[in-house]
Amino acid sequence: MNNSKNHRISKRATWAARQQIGYLMKQAVDHPDCLSLAAGLVDHATLPVEIAETQMQEILESSERGQLALQYGTTEGALSFRETVIKYLAALEQSTVRELGLTAKRCIITTGSQQLLDLVSQAIFDPGDICLVTSPTYFVYLSTLEGCGADVRSINCDDQGIIPDALQAELELIERAGELHRVKLLYLVSYFDNPRGITMPLARRLEILEILQQWSARQYIYLLEDAAYRELWYDAPPPVSMYALDESKQRVILAQTFSKSLSPGLRTGFGIIPDALIKPVSDLKSIHDFGSPHLTQTCINGLIESGDYAVHVAKLRESYQKKSEAIWQALQENILPQPGMIAFKPTGGLYVWLQIDSSYPETRFNKEFFDECVNAQKIMYVPGELFFADKTHPAASHTMRLSYGVQSKENLHEGIDRLSKGLNVFRE
Ligand SMILES: Cc1ncc(COP(=O)(O)O)c(C=O)c1O
Repeated sequence: MNNSKNHRISKRATWAARQQIGYLMKQAVDHPDCLSLAAGLVDHATLPVEIAETQMQEILESSERGQLALQYGTTEGALSFRETVIKYLAALEQSTVRELGLTAKRCIITTGSQQLLDLVSQAIFDPGDICLVTSPTYFVYLSTLEGCGADVRSINCDDQGIIPDALQAELELIERAGELHRVKLLYLVSYFDNPRGITMPLARRLEILEILQQWSARQYIYLLEDAAYRELWYDAPPPVSMYALDESKQRVILAQTFSKSLSPGLRTGFGIIPDALIKPVSDLKSIHDFGSPHLTQTCINGLIESGDYAVHVAKLRESYQKKSEAIWQALQENILPQPGMIAFKPTGGLYVWLQIDSSYPETRFNKEFFDECVNAQKIMYVPGELFFADKTHPAASHTMRLSYGVQSKENLHEGIDRLSKGLNVFRE
């Protein structure tokens, strides 16, 4: 059925349908024999079954606690959980709740951080408003923006994240076109980003905040800081958040999640929201679901308070670090010695971004290289094009995201070996 001709379907639903993730998932279903370095899932083997079971048992063995947890909560999330969350966040920032201007009122619990990204975008954008994103960026958020009818403008990044001069130049261009009043938001994945695994260093964070501050007199631009992977660092903790660095504490919307550090099945994330957005975001959430699952909030609250959460995250870091070393070693042995092959060694997170030499065929979905990998070599990656708002961006055709979270070390070696064989087919 062609949705655009079906007048019973809203524009929003047709916008949302234009996503390539569906194609990727279909490929995974159609090729179950393929070794997948595509799925961005967290590692199955490290999911915290035991500590979750203990916690759930503790909650449910007392009828009073159990009944409370099984009842509706509040739209913004359980107060006790939000209080725990702001303390836990202050500890991550190596600061205090007070110094960071954190209050339970500014904290909203959401059904995964994806819901927060969606609610914030709905609260901010009218169709045609401009959102600034990096090239490349988290592709699901691109679909969220499409669903809001936002006009997405991409800004290039380097090995430290978004390039300050490129941001400045884009804002000047928009101003010259008389569109500055439509720029509402800059979206950044500031830690071990999806797809490149890059973390913005402190100096870069400050530079970006400074640029937004300088433009404030002409146009107030919010910064949506997506910190989904911040706890998955390997050797050293990453810099503090842009929220913590922003002196006003009113510019940055900080989005975090327990999906990557604990369990995506618990579907729990949270946001720290500027005062002006608390009510709009909360009003929108109340018409979505009037509150995220209370039982899982109670469970995560208990896990943080008992210290089990911190122990789990430490183990997880170790496990992902080992996997990252395995994929990196395999890439160094098999692919990176060839001219024009570029990747960054992961220092945290779940992804490696591989740029292949332009003499090879394009990595896109509908091209012969993807076909060779999936059908002949039985290896799947995510084509770089998925992460670009501008599909004609030069980097969109010769890049790919490789996820190492799910596969074993042996499979990671095997996967890179297969990818290398796929590349060899086209080597001149
Ligand atoms: C960068 C980024 N942000 C947000 C999310 C959303 O995760 P969740 O809704 O599970 O918190 C993801 C999930 O993969 C992600 O990669």
